Amino acid sequence: MNWTKITRVENIPPREGRPVRIGNLEIAIFNVNGRFLTIENSCPHRGGPLCDGIISGTAVVCPLHGRHFDLETGMPMRVSEPACLATFPTRVEDGIVLVDLTAGHRVMEDAAA
Ligand code: FES
Repeated sequence: MNWTKITRVENIPPREGRPVRIGNLEIAIFNVNGRFLTIENSCPHRGGPLCDGIISGTAVVCPLHGRHFDLETGMPMRVSEPACLATFPTRVEDGIVLVDLTAGHRVMEDAAA
């Protein structure tokens, strides 16, 4: 694992997300009641900023057109959606959120492999 320190936990309030750009990669880190989950920030529909979406259970609702994506798997909540998001391993150590930016994966790509 290749952990990158991102921010202190208090910078991502419960039930909110925050965008982080590192190089060409933009991710969104969410605080789901103390559990931190990370996905790509750009909605696969038309690029909506998922960091600004509302959290519903363990899903985020895209702020542009309302599509739901599971924050644990990156999968769309409706079976008919054609694309999913990459998710990234995330953990907390000493009050710091860490993300492995090199270990992102998409469930749909894994299934097709
Ligand atoms: S851009 Fe996200 S649902 Fe359309």
